[in-house]
Amino acid sequence: MASGFSVAILLILFFSLSHAKHHHHLPPEIRGACKASRDPSTCEASFHHHFPSNLTALQIIYSALGRSSHKLTKAQAAVKDILKSSAGNINVTVAARNCVEGLDYSEYRFKQTVNDALARGEMKDARAWMSAALGYQHGCSSGLKKVNDTSRVRQTIVLMESLIGFTSDTLGMIMNYDIHGNQIASWSPPKTEREGFWEAVRGTREVKGGVPWSLKPNVTVCKVGNCGYRRVQDAVNAAPNNLVSQRFVIWIKAGMYDEIVRVPMAKTNLVFLGDGMGKTVITGSLNVGGMANSGVTTFESATVGVVGDGFMARDVTIQNTAGADAQQAVAFRSSSDHSIIENCEFLGNQDTLYVNSLRQYYKSCRIQGNIDFIFGNAAALFQDCDILVAPRIVNPENGETNVVTAHGRIEPGQSTGFIFHNCSINGTAQYMKSYYSNPSVHKTFLGRPWKEYARTVFLQCRFGDLINPAGWMPWSGEFALNTLYYGEFGNTGAAANAKERVLWSSQIPPQHVYTYSLQNFIQGDQWIPLSS
Ligand SMILES: *[C@@H]1O[C@H](CO)[C@@H](O)[C@H](O)[C@H]1NC(C)=O
Ligand SMILES: *[C@@H]1O[C@H](CO)[C@@H](O)[C@H](O)[C@H]1NC(C)=O
Ligand SMILES: *[C@@H]1O[C@H](CO)[C@@H](O)[C@H](O)[C@H]1NC(C)=O
Ligand SMILES: *[C@@H]1O[C@H](CO)[C@@H](O)[C@H](O)[C@H]1NC(C)=O
Ligand SMILES: *[C@@H]1O[C@H](CO)[C@@H](O)[C@H](O)[C@H]1NC(C)=O
Ligand SMILES: *[C@@H]1O[C@H](CO)[C@@H](O)[C@H](O)[C@H]1NC(C)=O
Repeated sequence: MASGFSVAILLILFFSLSHAKHHHHLPPEIRGACKASRDPSTCEASFHHHFPSNLTALQIIYSALGRSSHKLTKAQAAVKDILKSSAGNINVTVAARNCVEGLDYSEYRFKQTVNDALARGEMKDARAWMSAALGYQHGCSSGLKKVNDTSRVRQTIVLMESLIGFTSDTLGMIMNYDIHGNQIASWSPPKTEREGFWEAVRGTREVKGGVPWSLKPNVTVCKVGNCGYRRVQDAVNAAPNNLVSQRFVIWIKAGMYDEIVRVPMAKTNLVFLGDGMGKTVITGSLNVGGMANSGVTTFESATVGVVGDGFMARDVTIQNTAGADAQQAVAFRSSSDHSIIENCEFLGNQDTLYVNSLRQYYKSCRIQGNIDFIFGNAAALFQDCDILVAPRIVNPENGETNVVTAHGRIEPGQSTGFIFHNCSINGTAQYMKSYYSNPSVHKTFLGRPWKEYARTVFLQCRFGDLINPAGWMPWSGEFALNTLYYGEFGNTGAAANAKERVLWSSQIPPQHVYTYSLQNFIQGDQWIPLSS
């Protein structure tokens, strides 16, 4: 009820502002706010010069978000139309379905930003949620661009670009408001560490926590014997929707669960408790490469895919067994905000762990793969994890190139990045055997930029010998090399030597290391419970 009320206010503000004709010149505060945009003239033009004067920064932000919501509604209708008329063309169907889903998530994050974050003045939440909304919109748009052979799709791409511009502007304004408050004169387009820009950090408290030990199962899943469910998905389906303060704990007893599991947006605060890595195993083999024309996307290939916020898992293995020649084959994909994954194992080859969006904490996990095997556009912090390169099945003696991460930040205003703290990066015993037999043909890099503003840092990690002295590799030519931020600090092992690092990577200045703490980067102090 409260949320419906605030959306109504937002729309009234939007319409009354956009139809007010008191002034024919754009008020200076709008001009100032549009300095937060990456494209100030389009931003200014979109305000139609029909604005009352003397708006506060927050009122301008509400209004900017109102414009985005209005556009989003149009885009949602357009992609539904595409879906309706796409029968018989699997590629268009897949792209449109992905858009419908992504724009729904985007709508949810818009509403949350208005009704919750802005209402409470929690700008870090607003930035996280708007970053995610923007990511879904980009995802939709890039999918449509691949199936752009009808005018309906081409028109929708134009609409999406306009929506993305509005959302990007709004995010830029929220970021500036967070940093400068009402001093609109100081607002400017989002900058990154690469330009020497560091935000003030909040707090200095160490956050120690994880999945609470005190949790008791609400339901149990087992392969043999008596328990509530045989399949994990059935237990997920049995959870009440939209839990806010309660949790729903699913104990998944030891066993091999061969199933595809989906935790939809309404299933919030779900917890998977297993009996241990390698004991409770959820397994699948969907993949992009070996299933040509089946319409399986990287996103949909996940064995376990989570969207509902507040997801936790402990003591579980999740794997994708499609094999090393199957291209993208995700084991675990998560878009869950405030998610905690502890003592879990993720096994795969290419694209094992799809850390898609929002704030996620991985503690004491084991993550195995070979190409881009930790990827996505989340704000994810990995602590005390074992990151292991697995051998490819085919001709390991010929050598190969492996990449640990492929972060996908698209815009500099997005508050996303991958942080690795006190992790070990090494090969499996089998991989290291072939590595040592001929080190020069086995190349492993810490990361490559999936998108233009990729951000990844390694802090106090142990690098095995397999890490290439160059450290990082390009995605394609010069793409993203001037905009990404790849940082290192205090790592150990021979491969941590920065001497031969690519020039577009950075050593993090010690005074800025705290930027990447659990508390500052993902506000862990506000939502990670003490684990005792
Ligand atoms: C804006 O506010 C100031 C001070 O509150 C006031 O003097 C000025 O007349 C206002 N301008 C407009 C156009 O309302
Ligand atoms: C769908 O996309 C695939 C891969 O890009 C392509 O090989 C196939 O021909 C497309 N199918 C249709 C119906 O356009
Ligand atoms: C349409 O698709 C083709 C082929 O993927 C691409 O080269 C072209 O740039 C696309 N056009 C637009 C407007 O996205
Ligand atoms: C799950 O069980 C706990 C007690 O262990 C209880 O407090 C909680 O309300 C239950 N969750 C649901 C959704 O019923
Ligand atoms: C670093 O991680 C290892 C496990 O990989 C753990 O044993 C150790 O306690 C961690 N160190 C710190 C300082 O937390
Ligand atoms: C990496 O693995 C090799 C072989 O298993 C082992 O000898 C080495 O100590 C490991 N290095 C790190 C940094 O864990």
